[in-house]
Amino acid sequence: MAPQRRGSSHVLQPVSSPIATPCPPQASPPGATGVRAALTTAMAGLLVGLDTGLIAEALGFIGHDFHAGARAQEWIVSVLMIGALLGSLGAGVFSRRFGRRLALGTATLLIGAGALLCATAGLIGQILLGRFLIGVAIGICTFTAPLYISELTTGKMRGTMVSTFSMLQSCGILLGYLAGGLLAGGGHWRLMVGLPVVPAALLFAACALLPSSPSWLAARGRFEEARKVLRDLRGDEAEADRELDCIRHELGAGKAVSGFALLRAKPYFRRSVALGIGLQVMQQLTGINVVMYYAPKILEGAHFGTTAAAWATVLVGLVNAVVGIGAIYLVSRWGRRPLLVSSCIIMACALGCAAMIEGMHLHGPGATLSLVAALLVFVAGFGMGAGPLVWTLCSEIQPIAGRDFGVACSTLANWGMDWAVSNTFLTIVAALGAGWTFAGFSVMNIGFMLFTVLLVPETRDVPLEVIEQHLEAGLPLRRIGR
Ligand code: BGC
Repeated sequence: MAPQRRGSSHVLQPVSSPIATPCPPQASPPGATGVRAALTTAMAGLLVGLDTGLIAEALGFIGHDFHAGARAQEWIVSVLMIGALLGSLGAGVFSRRFGRRLALGTATLLIGAGALLCATAGLIGQILLGRFLIGVAIGICTFTAPLYISELTTGKMRGTMVSTFSMLQSCGILLGYLAGGLLAGGGHWRLMVGLPVVPAALLFAACALLPSSPSWLAARGRFEEARKVLRDLRGDEAEADRELDCIRHELGAGKAVSGFALLRAKPYFRRSVALGIGLQVMQQLTGINVVMYYAPKILEGAHFGTTAAAWATVLVGLVNAVVGIGAIYLVSRWGRRPLLVSSCIIMACALGCAAMIEGMHLHGPGATLSLVAALLVFVAGFGMGAGPLVWTLCSEIQPIAGRDFGVACSTLANWGMDWAVSNTFLTIVAALGAGWTFAGFSVMNIGFMLFTVLLVPETRDVPLEVIEQHLEAGLPLRRIGR
């Protein structure tokens, strides 16, 4: 796998490091065109989230119309993750060969096709096929968008923009819940699942206006095109030329080995890949998607009426989205580690409360409202840290030569665990009860906190070159940042 990423990009306030960086940390802003292009790419997050939110509301109706039991419903939810697993696997190869822009455009087409299949389904198999195609597209988006964004932006904007992708994912979930809540009254589940066709078509059109990734162009030896794109993105010729020099430097830095070969050859790359996978596995073990996918079911189980459950679910989505907006601000100010540790503690406590309410079979308005409050606090805890930071960290910790491969591995882990958790949740609740299930997730969040304390580096304002050099020098993972 050819190294495609520039190493120059990141930092407005350089962090002192004993090791000289090949390209000086960058002090100039990324340019309005670069930010616009990154924001357009981040809209892919909206599409990813929309499909998550819509299925939560549509599931009950589909189950009813197709006489689908708990197991079949689990499959309707989780077949998307199998598609996403394959999509994120294939996206690395596809986007390296054909470019990020084409990968994203293809994903929007697949989402449109999948949504149409679901909306017109006469058999449950058609829904499964449609959800599978949407899954492939989502896998492509979650691999491609964060990488593409980081190639289009520079400096501090990088963390902010990747977090924007994550925040828009939360907004997409909220939109899905809202549309679901509005359409639930008339039982219009076909309209619900067909809705992503509209934003998919808009993003498809927007993809035509996006520039090719300068790093990708340079990696293919198309330096003059890369220079043109960079000048356009940064709006500053000298800065663009300097950046291109850095990209060329990284590409020619003698890192002939990349991807899987690098994994076999370099223990330090095995450690960063393992950290990325660990972060994504822990993110899913927080239990976030149990709430995201099954919130209406959890609330109905707690004696909410169907409509009340639908609106309480909208509230869950709202909190997730609003906190996601706040997280964009906090990510570049608090630092990764304190935010992630606080996030885990909040999630563990909230799920502990939910476990008590469910486990003690408390009933009545007080208990029901407390359950909703616990779920809201949990989602807020996730949205302020574990949600945006895991994606940000995963795109920061991999060395340039292996970044595509490393991010593909961690994205794969995200979807694999998402599948495992959402495909077993209803079965586990039926076997153990909701109380013990929530208690289990609460313990997982304590585990995530320990994982963070022991292994997660503080990467805020640290140039990627410095992270890479610390990693290569064999420093403990926790110390590869500052
Ligand atoms: C996670 C998704 C989750 C979403 C909720 C993302 O960071 O990776 O699995 O559905 O957050 O907002």
